[in-house]
Amino acid sequence: MNPRHLAWLVLLAGSAAAHAANPEEGAEIYRRHCSACHGNDGRPVLPGAPDFTRPTALMRSDLSLLATIRAGRGGMPAFAGQLRDRDILDVVAHLRTLR
Ligand code: HEC
Repeated sequence: MNPRHLAWLVLLAGSAAAHAANPEEGAEIYRRHCSACHGNDGRPVLPGAPDFTRPTALMRSDLSLLATIRAGRGGMPAFAGQLRDRDILDVVAHLRTLR
């Protein structure tokens, strides 16, 4: 492998590690911004919100969920500008622990 490619790989691996989603941080953000509608344990409080404890609720990629949470949907407000993408990815990691 040529050294320039190797340097890129090291850089990419480093930034991926720096941004690894953190479900504990996500739990905190979830309590603050999401639980009023989605419930502390992921069972919806607001009718029409999905039940995150169901195994089929989150069968989408993290990036697809990120896009939805950023943009909002139906009764859910947009979180772009309120939460950084990495915060949203932390929350998504937390959502995946609720099943
Ligand atoms: C004001 C109430 C409310 C808040 C606050 C809220 N949501 Fe939602 N959320 C909803 C509702 C209602 C839906 C269902 C939207 C629909 O499908 O029409 C939903 C849907 C979703 C979905 C499923 C989207 C899909 O396309 O299947 C995800 C994931 C989600 N919310 C995550 C979050 C996260 C993470 C937060 C906090 C950062 C949050 N929500 C905050 C009400 C809310």
